[in-house]
Amino acid sequence: MIETSVVTGPGSIDLADKIARRLGADLAVASLRIFSDGESSIKLGTVGKNCIIVQSTNPPTDTHLIQLLMMAQKCTDDGAQDICAVIPYLGYARQDRAFLDGEVVSISLVAKLFESVRLKHIITVDIHSELAMSYFRSIQNVSSVPLLADYASKMRLHDPIAVSPDAGGTNRAKEFARHLDIDDVLVLKKSRHRVTGDVTVEERLDIDISKRDAIVIDDIISSGGSLIKAAEVLNKKGVGKIYAMCAHALLINDAAQKIKSAGVEDIVSTNSVPSQYSKVDLSPELALALKSRY
Ligand code: R5P
Repeated sequence: MIETSVVTGPGSIDLADKIARRLGADLAVASLRIFSDGESSIKLGTVGKNCIIVQSTNPPTDTHLIQLLMMAQKCTDDGAQDICAVIPYLGYARQDRAFLDGEVVSISLVAKLFESVRLKHIITVDIHSELAMSYFRSIQNVSSVPLLADYASKMRLHDPIAVSPDAGGTNRAKEFARHLDIDDVLVLKKSRHRVTGDVTVEERLDIDISKRDAIVIDDIISSGGSLIKAAEVLNKKGVGKIYAMCAHALLINDAAQKIKSAGVEDIVSTNSVPSQYSKVDLSPELALALKSRY
């Protein structure tokens, strides 16, 4: 019997292949069919005693989630003894509490679904919050910040400043600045309307940023709303060039275009969600996290 299989669906083949090579493990790619009503059907060949499923649950989130559960179910049915999942982008992690009365804490349900298919351990990247992590029995969070900082260190930047678009990202921006040996971190004061989702950013800044290049670092860029508001404020204060870096570039609809129009020079993300902006490969860090387990 195969000892260890890296199992993946069509959305994460490249990253899964890189991880499998680093581990010297077998790669099993599930074939996928989507029926006309949107239901997924997954077919998977022989898998090993240990299964590592690699799949981000980026949009279409529910579809990717059910496909991940299906792959785990198949590994269980085939007698795998240990199943873990590498879910670089863990969807629903932002729904880690009831923000409005009557809201379901969705990430808690996701954790229960994983247990139901015997997913013993989860490895994810830059999870949105500690609270989201607390719903899982066994989860490891890998930081993409050192890899992003390494990429930024090769960029030509003028007197750079690290910017967090909100208070929640303060530690991330500080860690990024430390890796890059940058002294200044600017934390913007963002608020989001809980019902409409509209974002506002305070214009008063504590640091003079004129003519300095800014790297706005965030965990997720989704609609681009947070980044665009940040760019507007930075531009008003005479910033130099603005770059955006993140772990997960979801870039819904025409977000990338709107971000560029707001004056952002470039977007740099990891390959947690494949796109033309996935310039930073997570496989070294993810393989390292897996090596301590297998
Ligand atoms: C929010 O707390 C997150 O860290 C991101 O700033 C946010 O999810 C980005 O979303 P969007 O691009 O839609 O503003």
